[in-house]
Amino acid sequence: MKKMLKVVAAMALASTVLFTSCGGSKGSGKKTVGVAMPTQSSERWINDGANMKKQLEAAGYAVELQYAEDDVQMQVSQLENLIAKQVNCLVVAAIDSTALVNVLATAKQNNIPVIAYDRLLMDTDAVSYYATFDNKGVGTAIAKYIETAKSLKTAKDEGRSYTIEFFMGSPDDNNALFLYNGVMEVLKQYLDNGVLKCKTGRTSFEKTCILRWSQETAQQWCENYLSGFYANEKLDIACTAFDGFAYGVKAACEGAGYKVGVDWPLITGQDAELMATKNIIAGSQTCSIYKDTRLLASKCVTMVEAVLKGTQPEINDRTQYNNGKLVVPSYLCTPVAVDKYNVDEVIVGGGYYTKEQLGL
Ligand code: BGC
Repeated sequence: MKKMLKVVAAMALASTVLFTSCGGSKGSGKKTVGVAMPTQSSERWINDGANMKKQLEAAGYAVELQYAEDDVQMQVSQLENLIAKQVNCLVVAAIDSTALVNVLATAKQNNIPVIAYDRLLMDTDAVSYYATFDNKGVGTAIAKYIETAKSLKTAKDEGRSYTIEFFMGSPDDNNALFLYNGVMEVLKQYLDNGVLKCKTGRTSFEKTCILRWSQETAQQWCENYLSGFYANEKLDIACTAFDGFAYGVKAACEGAGYKVGVDWPLITGQDAELMATKNIIAGSQTCSIYKDTRLLASKCVTMVEAVLKGTQPEINDRTQYNNGKLVVPSYLCTPVAVDKYNVDEVIVGGGYYTKEQLGL
């Protein structure tokens, strides 16, 4: 699947120059928005790019959509090119949140406003607004799901305990620490009182973060954990921050002989990707966090309108997202936990995937 996506990614990359709307800003009289996305290796960003393009075009803008395939330098070059083409506004979902300081300073010198998309742009005063999900809320939603599913509140009195391992997000993505803090706000008390046992001892952000959200690394870590620490006692919970990690953990568990419906662990994820949602229905992933990328795109479009037309964007947070230079006015969309019990209502009912896509 990943390989296939990579081939598609390479093809799309090659065609980026061809399919982007050419000369929108000057020739057609339309204003052009440059949209820089991190990667096509995971489905959510493909959806984000498609939604942004569709909604911006519907609002009358030309769009230059670029993917940098998790290559930081490629993203810098893409932004430099968009600035050279004199786009009217930049929407950026960073690969490395701190690596774009210089290129964003160039955007500012050229009077091109910048909006941070999903991931905060750090250490820059060139960013006007930030559209995202409640990233700490994603972490608390994951942890509360575990707390409820395993009845952790009463576990101590009832003499129950569970083994758990953590697979957290990329250290260069500001969202990852927010998510981790949300997870620990709920679960730390259970690690402290012995209800949750992490046999590897890896509970800190530094010990659990996975660079560039790599599925392969998550799988490798999980394989090592299962063979090194869980030979005599099963892993009960894999607290992962991303559907990609859940796929890696799933593969590792299969390899170690775990069976769905018998001794399969509770596996969390994030994004409600199509494959993850199918896995949830099949029982090989327990839950995910649904983030409606259509909603995120619509909030981001109000920010583009604000910087280009002087209208008021929708802002609902002016305190949490300090990027080291300023507290960036933000709109936080609400994440929702999904599992096999509410997937029909939330995902199908919300029009995110059809029953046919999910094989229901
Ligand atoms: C996003 C998540 C996503 C992750 C990996 C994060 O910045 O907020 O939704 O799972 O990147 O792509």
